[in-house]
Amino acid sequence: MNPFKIDGIVDGVDYMPRKESEELLKYHKAGRNVLIRGPRRTGKSSLVINTFQKVKCQFVRVDFWGVKTESKAVEKIARALEPFSKKLPMLSGFNVAGVGLQWKSPEALSSVEDLLRVMPDLHKKNPVVVFFDEFQSLLDLPDSDQFLGALRSEIQAQPEVQYVFAGSNQNRLMEIFYSQRSPFFKSAALMEVGSLEHDAFIEWLEAKFAETDRSVDPKLWGPIFDLSHAIPGDVQDVCYHLWNDLEEGERVTAKRFGETLQRVLHERASGYEGMWNMLTDNQQKIAMGLARYREDKYTSNEFMQLSGATSPASVKRGIEALESKGLIWMSSKLWIFSDPFFALWISNSVD
Ligand SMILES: Nc1ncnc2c1ncn2[C@@H]1O[C@H](COP(=O)(O)OP(=O)(O)O)[C@@H](O)[C@H]1O
Ligand SMILES: [Mg+2]
Repeated sequence: MNPFKIDGIVDGVDYMPRKESEELLKYHKAGRNVLIRGPRRTGKSSLVINTFQKVKCQFVRVDFWGVKTESKAVEKIARALEPFSKKLPMLSGFNVAGVGLQWKSPEALSSVEDLLRVMPDLHKKNPVVVFFDEFQSLLDLPDSDQFLGALRSEIQAQPEVQYVFAGSNQNRLMEIFYSQRSPFFKSAALMEVGSLEHDAFIEWLEAKFAETDRSVDPKLWGPIFDLSHAIPGDVQDVCYHLWNDLEEGERVTAKRFGETLQRVLHERASGYEGMWNMLTDNQQKIAMGLARYREDKYTSNEFMQLSGATSPASVKRGIEALESKGLIWMSSKLWIFSDPFFALWISNSVD
């Protein structure tokens, strides 16, 4: 079985413990709310979940990804509370948004504040940690200011309960926590989560290969991390494909690394071509530039020459369009491709 996990939250043997856990636990002990910021696929969700698995607490995780309405957001919170419903006497007699969570008095549950008010009651039995994941999605609600305001005032009234926020869209998270007009302005301690510690991660990945009687030429870690911009999920993605092309007892050499990349690009070629053809001429130019450029000076002459863009404004427009299509995202000042293989395909197949 391929030992590399390329998607979603990891735990158990698939999770490499990381030092940020200690920082998170310090905030937990101090009872401070925390905002976890970092590029996507760096392991924010996995970090929070694995850290609190070892803590005696009641852990409530709500993933707001994709919510577009207030009732959906409320339903998500209700669902997350379902496992605790037996412990709370008021949770019976009323059905929330079709979820099997029962409330004693219907009028007790008309708003998000009412739902959150459950937390301090739960807390009396055992410390509660509430994890609001993909929190920036709440900006998509029709009346997000009002919803966030309500959430914020309830959270403020519960100093005993710890709230941990995380999300994959850094700009939007900043809009919530660092814009002065936001109700959440500076309401949580900021924790940055980036890549896993380089050497330890390599050792961990090497052990995964070794446990399945396979190995990697150590010289290739540089190119592997380069291709994946050292994003843990993408590093695992590359390893996953390398592993698939090995038999027991075999080793990834430079030649085999190249062959695996060719195979993946070949398999995905028609999908990539389809995506490419949907881009406008300007978007294609910017994508081509980004696939080959490793600095953050996107309005420089150098970038314009590389991409063939005609003006800084067209660079900006192209970047915005590629981002809104989910093809690229910003990781510590660099625009990088969501799919590292797509970047490779662009720089190899397009000219
Ligand atoms: N601590 C870790 N150990 C091993 N792999 C990890 C770790 N954290 C993240 N990953 C890799 O990154 C992927 C995404 O992790 P996730 O926690 O969903 O990230 P995020 O919440 O930042 O988007 C995982 O499927 C896994 O491949
Ligand atoms: Mg996540």
